[in-house]
Amino acid sequence: MLENIGATLQLANGVLMPLLGLGTYKSTEGGDVERAVTSALEVGYRRIDTASFYGNESGIGSAITASGIDRSDLFIASKVWNDEQGYESTLAAFSRSLDRLGTDYLDLYLVHWPRRETPDTWKAMERLLDEGLVRAIGVCNHLEHHLEDLLLTSRVPPMVNQYEFHPWLQQRPLLGYCMENHIAVEAWAPLMRGRVTEVPELVLIGRRHGKSPAQIALRWLLQQGVATIPKSVHRDRIAENADIFDFTLDDGEMRSIGLLDRGTRLGPEPDLGGQL
Ligand SMILES: NC(=O)c1ccc[n+]([C@@H]2O[C@H](COP(=O)([O-])OP(=O)(O)OC[C@H]3O[C@@H](n4cnc5c(N)ncnc54)[C@H](OP(=O)(O)O)[C@@H]3O)[C@@H](O)[C@H]2O)c1
Repeated sequence: MLENIGATLQLANGVLMPLLGLGTYKSTEGGDVERAVTSALEVGYRRIDTASFYGNESGIGSAITASGIDRSDLFIASKVWNDEQGYESTLAAFSRSLDRLGTDYLDLYLVHWPRRETPDTWKAMERLLDEGLVRAIGVCNHLEHHLEDLLLTSRVPPMVNQYEFHPWLQQRPLLGYCMENHIAVEAWAPLMRGRVTEVPELVLIGRRHGKSPAQIALRWLLQQGVATIPKSVHRDRIAENADIFDFTLDDGEMRSIGLLDRGTRLGPEPDLGGQL
């Protein structure tokens, strides 16, 4: 049973990762992202998801510093971008992310997209883990065949796979593969980039529980043991998206959301390596 906003799941190396975090893609530096992170921390979020590609790590760092919250109470994740992949360039990209975020370690560092250079990138990730500069390492947007390749060459298997996951794109076999291999799954675009409000089933189930379609979509993920990072820059929505720990979807409701799968991607195709 999920108790509260601080609920965690345990990664393969024992690190506890909050099930709910704040997404920040397209939250711009110089106002939006600082306000969003400040609101999220006030509401009780402790996990923030960013990436060098988002161009907002410095703003996130400022908001974190201003919050006065102890670093050890936070869970901060960033990602190495496509043109930073490779061994030396990943180590350099990681240092730049640390500087911008104003921290001396990350809780989670992720490979943003599978690329030809990913085996070398992964060796750098393993080194960062060995050196204690990052508490956990993982990948994003890896399909089963990408994971199989990585597992063949890696010394430390990825602890997380963060990929597009919502009612229209469920990829059940990929979820099963990750679970079997102790790779925690984290959903991006959990709100279907805002389109959850267009899905009548989510609206209907929401009415039954006195919840919004966004809250139903997020709760559906959590009840499958999937972590998630909804993005908003609005304080009311940031609070709404976290208010998902006081109700339970029953088996019938879980099944009817399961039937909404249409294999529809709202973001890039992983086999194209994150060409936006
Ligand atoms: N690893 C990867 O390759 C990857 C790719 C994409 C995203 N991500 C991460 O995952 C996070 C989430 O994904 P996402 O940002 O693409 O999509 P998302 O979280 O599904 O949707 C964000 C959109 O939904 C709106 N929204 C927020 N709360 C809402 C609510 N309660 N009701 C209705 N609409 C709401 C937001 O608008 P407002 O901001 O105006 O409220 C925004 O337009 C990203 O921010 C990023 O951190 C990772």
